[in-house]
Amino acid sequence: MERTFLAIKPDGVQRGLVGEIIRRLETKGFTLVGLKLMSVSKELAESHYDVHRERPFFDSLVKFITSAPIVAMVWEGDGVVASARKIIGATNPLTSDPGTIRGDFGVSIGRNIIHGSDAVETAKREVALWFKDEELVNWQPQMTTWLYE
Ligand code: RTP
Ligand code: MG
Repeated sequence: MERTFLAIKPDGVQRGLVGEIIRRLETKGFTLVGLKLMSVSKELAESHYDVHRERPFFDSLVKFITSAPIVAMVWEGDGVVASARKIIGATNPLTSDPGTIRGDFGVSIGRNIIHGSDAVETAKREVALWFKDEELVNWQPQMTTWLYE
């Protein structure tokens, strides 16, 4: 089953959006298989955002992600990588559609509340970067038979 890595960024945690965000993914029908509140080291933040190392916003992004706790999560389900990106919305909250997390709760690109893996291969790398195998739980909710034909 496909998995994705999502992280509620420091702004989302500080603004009390953790429950709301988890609710949206749960009620959609995805399965939570990993969850932890954590402080992020500079090394982990730099590794996570390695593809953006040469971008002008890299330093401020790393500084922001390491500034306060985040909630790291792994979610599972058919097509969860692309679907979670849709639920999250476009990078800049000012242009994200209403109904998306960023579209409903944000106004600034540097404070866009949540991260989501952008492709299946990226998700594999990010899940392995943020979680040890033993921190992930293999389980199947009882309601699965009511979600899938
Ligand atoms: P994310 O990786 O956090 O899920 O966001 P994304 O795919 O929608 O956007 P990406 O291009 O990967 O950018 C990563 C994060 O960098 C910050 N950013 N700031 N100031 C800027 O122009 C700028 N561009 C990107 C955002 O916080 C974005 O989520
Ligand atoms: Mg990205």
